[in-house]
Amino acid sequence: MLISPLDVVRWTFRRRPADAIRLYDSLSGVMRLATGGDSLNFGLWADSCAEPLLAQKNMADHFGKVAELQNAQTAADVGCGRAGPARIWQEAYPNVRMVCIDINRQGLGDAGFLPCAANAISTSLPLASGSMDRVLALESAQHFRPLDGFTTEAARVLSPEGILCLAVPVAGPRYAKHRLGMLWLTWSSEHHTMSTVRASVASAGLQLLSEERVGGLVYEPIAEYYLQNRVALKRRIRSEYPGYVESLLHRSILDMRRASKRDVIDYVIVKCKKANGSR
Ligand SMILES: C[S@@+](CC[C@H](N)C(=O)[O-])C[C@H]1O[C@@H](n2cnc3c(N)ncnc32)[C@H](O)[C@@H]1O
Repeated sequence: MLISPLDVVRWTFRRRPADAIRLYDSLSGVMRLATGGDSLNFGLWADSCAEPLLAQKNMADHFGKVAELQNAQTAADVGCGRAGPARIWQEAYPNVRMVCIDINRQGLGDAGFLPCAANAISTSLPLASGSMDRVLALESAQHFRPLDGFTTEAARVLSPEGILCLAVPVAGPRYAKHRLGMLWLTWSSEHHTMSTVRASVASAGLQLLSEERVGGLVYEPIAEYYLQNRVALKRRIRSEYPGYVESLLHRSILDMRRASKRDVIDYVIVKCKKANGSR
């Protein structure tokens, strides 16, 4: 895999849709090598989760409950990646008609499971107004620019009383660029604050129902897992990527753990509703 350090810098600072596509074309393999699965998220590391696949399953299970998928007939998963979470939801809620949407065509092509898929951008969803009971964005909204372009689009496609659910890395209360360490370079997406997220939800006319801060169940346990298993993971990653990729990852993971402990970064699960009668 040919990736130069300059590529990483370009994707980080430009953050255009084309950069997000290149980022996942090039680096989603690292996640697959580390986990062996199709999900591209950090996971939610509750007590019983000792390894990434379980943590990712736990994240999808929890997210599905927050989104009340048991009461839905239709759902759009925006930024579905390789549809790892969508597969888990489809198995748990077989009555939901799921549409998987991602800007990255290659990721959709590689997905092992796709009920119905569209290669599209978050701010222009190929869905009829009022057609979706749920819009889900599991660890993808950090890439959506502008975020209120997406929340407005989600509000358009949601049915009355429909629910939008986001799981998103955010800047924590003590966020400052100089406290990010290596993440300053490798956090290749928007650094939304909770205020930005709330404002984007409100500007779309959606009602915020809940927000759950779970950074401590995301960053620190995955960092511990990586550090404890580094020798084996390093070997796997180096078999397909240049050595500097794993070194950057290792430094980023150390800084991610430190930033999470110091409240510089956080991770939230947000649930909001389209009130009956709103746009
Ligand atoms: C961290 S991955 C998460 C994938 C999936 N939700 C999961 O948990 O496995 C983020 C995904 O968002 C997609 N993405 C990034 N920007 C996007 C955009 N503007 N519109 C739609 N998808 C986007 C990426 O291609 C990538 O597949």
